[in-house]
Amino acid sequence: EKGTYAHFMLKEIDEQPIVMRKIIQKYQDEHGEIQLEDDVRQAMTQADRIYIIAAGTSYHAGLVGKQFIEKLAQVPVEVHISSEFSYNMPLLSEKPLFVFISQSGETADSRSVLVKTKALGHKALTITNVPGSTLSREADYTLHLHAGPEIAVASTKAYTAQIAVLALLAVGTAKAKCLHLHFDPLKELAIVASAMESLTDQKEAFEQLAKDLFSTTRNAFFIGRGNDYFVVQEAALKLKEISYIQAEGFAGGELKHGTIALIEDDTPVVAISTQENVNLSIRGNVQEVVARGAKAAIVSMKGLEKDSDAFVLPKVHELLTPLVSVIPMQLLSYYAALHRDCDVDKPRNLAKSVTVE
Ligand code: F6R
Repeated sequence: EKGTYAHFMLKEIDEQPIVMRKIIQKYQDEHGEIQLEDDVRQAMTQADRIYIIAAGTSYHAGLVGKQFIEKLAQVPVEVHISSEFSYNMPLLSEKPLFVFISQSGETADSRSVLVKTKALGHKALTITNVPGSTLSREADYTLHLHAGPEIAVASTKAYTAQIAVLALLAVGTAKAKCLHLHFDPLKELAIVASAMESLTDQKEAFEQLAKDLFSTTRNAFFIGRGNDYFVVQEAALKLKEISYIQAEGFAGGELKHGTIALIEDDTPVVAISTQENVNLSIRGNVQEVVARGAKAAIVSMKGLEKDSDAFVLPKVHELLTPLVSVIPMQLLSYYAALHRDCDVDKPRNLAKSVTVE
């Protein structure tokens, strides 16, 4: 099943452009328009607030999804970690819609929220890679990720599929509300697919960077602002779970409020900069950590780059940058784990789907 690949994780990283194209194909009608089913469209347009509920990587995709739904469809969104939601249930709006994001569709923490919110009479939409799964069966509506089976414990292609489907959900909702958009998601996702391909074709660069940064370190930091902040949280989770390096993803501006105390000589810090409005400020944060001895690497987007950057990403629409900036992060984690002789596909203490609360 792995074919020529040493690990499922690498195979699944490489499959991401194919998954993007599959989603483009599955979510458009014969006129090349985004096609949401009537009941999903109705649920989305009737909701006065969306509550996204998810765990781990799916939660990180939800953070990006909130941006699409608020910016494109103009519906307020809250994103919650499923295991926390039950204790800290927020004050709900009058017409909430619950959106569960779950690759497996079996995550018990998320299901427990579904059971509770259903009992309150609220509707639920599940976005999942497994249509027959518990969360899909028990929700009112399902959107399919079409990512194909994800075998490696560390989620990669499901994350990017979740983000792509959330973008299409937002656009479908915006269209149903007759909002005028300057954003053609199918065209932009096709550009993303090509950009992903060019990144997965440059694995040596990330293998080398992983060696330089993570061969012996005990800890690592990832920093970003705005959309990049969401991706650095995912980057840190990826690195933690398969290489066992203590890693944290921080908002660049938050460093000075405490975290910067942890920076020592040679502490690896990876910064992502894909957004014009934060490019200067995140670079300022990098200077601050470098002044304290950090070994920093900046991954920037074409048009925002400086000569000293470790890697420049091909340009994509500014809303969709997480889909490309995450690829180097996935590859860095993969090679870090590989060089440290870790079991990439089956990290210690982890299961592919977490069916206990
Ligand atoms: C990380 C990872 C986990 C899952 C989380 C939720 O690589 O795989 O953090 O994302 O357990 O799983 P699903 O999406 O199946 O609900």
